[in-house]
Amino acid sequence: TKGAAMVTAVASRVQAQRKQIDKVLALFQLTREQLLGVRDKMRAELEYGLKKKTHSLATVKMLPTYVYGMPDGTEKGKFLALDLGGTNFRVLLVKIRRRSVRMYNKIFAIPLEIMQGTGEELFDHIVQCIADFLDYMGLKGAQLPLGFTFSFPCRQTCIDKGTLVGWTKGFKATDCEGEDVVDMLREAIKRRNEFDLDIVAIVNDTVGTMMTCGYEDPRCEIGLIAGTGSNVCYMEEMRNIELVDGDEGRMCVNTEWGGFGDNGCIDDIRTQYDKEVDDGSLNAGKQRYEKMTSGMYLGEIVRRILIDLTRQGLLFRGQISERLRTRGIFETKFLSQIESDRLALLQVRRILQQLGLDSTCEDSIVVKEVCGAVSRRAAQMCGAGMAAIVEKRREDQGLQHFKVTVGVDGTLYKLHPHFSRILQETVKELAPQCDVTFMLSEDGSGKGAALITAVAKRLQQPRKD
Ligand code: GLC
Repeated sequence: TKGAAMVTAVASRVQAQRKQIDKVLALFQLTREQLLGVRDKMRAELEYGLKKKTHSLATVKMLPTYVYGMPDGTEKGKFLALDLGGTNFRVLLVKIRRRSVRMYNKIFAIPLEIMQGTGEELFDHIVQCIADFLDYMGLKGAQLPLGFTFSFPCRQTCIDKGTLVGWTKGFKATDCEGEDVVDMLREAIKRRNEFDLDIVAIVNDTVGTMMTCGYEDPRCEIGLIAGTGSNVCYMEEMRNIELVDGDEGRMCVNTEWGGFGDNGCIDDIRTQYDKEVDDGSLNAGKQRYEKMTSGMYLGEIVRRILIDLTRQGLLFRGQISERLRTRGIFETKFLSQIESDRLALLQVRRILQQLGLDSTCEDSIVVKEVCGAVSRRAAQMCGAGMAAIVEKRREDQGLQHFKVTVGVDGTLYKLHPHFSRILQETVKELAPQCDVTFMLSEDGSGKGAALITAVAKRLQQPRKD
């Protein structure tokens, strides 16, 4: 009959559409072999970065940090800390006394035109924020030691010097690359001519995070950030760090693993959507692994997929709205909400509504699946990278089994309902001889900067005239 024929026609159209959607989702489903490939290539790149011969061309830069060990609990005093490069810019006052740490902090906005203006403007703004904070805390005129968490790749020759290798994430202030960030801060303080600060240490956020966890757990020797950006640091044997003289003991290395893949070595798993996100970013061609694994980019990948599905007539009645064309609408926060298991589909639709996207119930199912595929791949790739690190450490120490703690911070890890679990499952799967505990570091980058400053200050004492 006619009716039955129509039902069959509709059913087969729905089936065909489902096939098209599954085809796109399948691009994000990595096989075990592909993940092993990521692990092994990451391992190779870690070695290139450490070796003198290959270092200059390496995509994973393996930057020495001049942090030699963990705080020992005798640190004390009052410190200022700056935290630049994550979701928020913060100024903190950190009081350390007998293993207890108290912190006061204030969040400041960094307007887009300052993030992407001149270096002088950026550092003047930072110093303005410090001035406001000192005022607010009633500390004007106090001369406190300062630790600067600066979450970008820096080439260091000691704990208080760091040349910016290149901006990552959303920053692009001019005249900073190749300059010493500590000098730039000192000069901005001088320009303002209102207070003096003793800048003792410049620290990557991964290192601060590792330090904070290391303060409580002596097994912690790796720091991971899964947030706006993605990066890892870990304690490496000095004899393996060919860029630094000396063979004794260990030093923390900032891997800058976000640059993994910049030589094309993971192009086989990058999709057209990853390439679009990369092309549209401030640093096209760079930080390819970071762009597949971190909060600043996951929402963008999702948005590109949704646009494509809409174009194919599989979503939003085939209508690409102005909103959907807008960059950055899917923040980590929204992805996390959409993927929450407790959320009914009606609520997913409500979130999409908030984002200005009118969806049907079918649409909301597809959007949720897309988010899930993108964040799952991110967590697995991050896990494959971590497996490379812990396996290296295990082999280097000649151990059958290696038990280690990883200090972690970052909005993606903290807010996302599945990221941390998938990350941990993947590490277990790809590094079965390692027993890896992930420890959330509350406020790792600020606290860690203060701890490192305290250690550096203590070591400085004998030198004082
Ligand atoms: C980017 C930065 C790196 C930082 C990470 C997490 O990858 O280059 O230095 O640790 O983001 O914030």
